[in-house]
Amino acid sequence: MTLPAEKINGPILTATTQTQLRTTIDGWKEQGLTVGFVPTMGALHEGHLSLVRLALEKADRVVASIFVNPTQFAPHEDFDTYPREEEKDIAELENAGTHLIYLPSANEIYPDGPASTLKAGKAAQGLETDFRPHFFDGVATVVHRLFEQVKSDVAVFGEKDFQQLQVIKEMVKTKDMPIDIIGAPIVRDEHGLALASRNAYLSDAELQMARQLNKVLYQTASSLRAEGEAIQSGLPRRSDDLLAMTDKAKEQLLEVGFDKIDYIESRWDRTLAAAWIGKTRLIDNMEI
Ligand code: PAJ
Repeated sequence: MTLPAEKINGPILTATTQTQLRTTIDGWKEQGLTVGFVPTMGALHEGHLSLVRLALEKADRVVASIFVNPTQFAPHEDFDTYPREEEKDIAELENAGTHLIYLPSANEIYPDGPASTLKAGKAAQGLETDFRPHFFDGVATVVHRLFEQVKSDVAVFGEKDFQQLQVIKEMVKTKDMPIDIIGAPIVRDEHGLALASRNAYLSDAELQMARQLNKVLYQTASSLRAEGEAIQSGLPRRSDDLLAMTDKAKEQLLEVGFDKIDYIESRWDRTLAAAWIGKTRLIDNMEI
């Protein structure tokens, strides 16, 4: 007898404790199956689901976690109001082919109370850290604990949070953890806006403004690329050009209605930005 398609995976499995996690994952490992992991804070969108799909290409079984991590929020930030949509998230993860969802309580992750016990490495210097000083310590701490609990072979992170991806890669290297970290391309809406759970805070008018961020970043990254090519071909570098380009980008964003620009800066092979519209902070980056 052949099973109907929906029965092959069976209903999606959920775990709220490490013991439940281990029962399922150890079972898979005994069968020689590889495991992929996608950590999230929920309020899922196509960006998150694209990570699940990429993990399914890299591993036999995929675990996703939903945990709004208190240690990566500063006291004045939106921990209490961060969107929580567990039922919808579970249905979407199931549709995307996730095999197991880990929904730990705060106690399961922080038995001694929520505090960061890891310091993020060099990749955390500057950019986000200039504006959210404890953010990457919180991210490194929670991801390290999740990695220890899930023990997957690979884990997928979005390039949307490019600095975060670098922080995690560095942590895994420093701690010599046996896990492959894979970066996934940024998923955008039809106007180029990078999908983000916090976009839900934007009004229609703010959404129109938000869609300028990727356009300005694209222009800046293109100008920087041209500048780089000019330098490579031996043309003299005009001293303040690079700074002038990011300054111009900041002005353009303020002109279209952004309230504050935390940074627009080039690092790695990217131009990265964080900027505010009202009470909403947007981040994005483009390859140079
Ligand atoms: P969260 O913001 O929920 O994002 C979970 C993962 O989805 C991250 O790897 C993020 O880069 C990725 N992601 C978000 N929007 C994306 C988009 N538009 N395209 C591609 N990928 C996207 O990042 C976190 O949670 C937390 O810091 C976490 C790593 C879970 C630790 O708490």
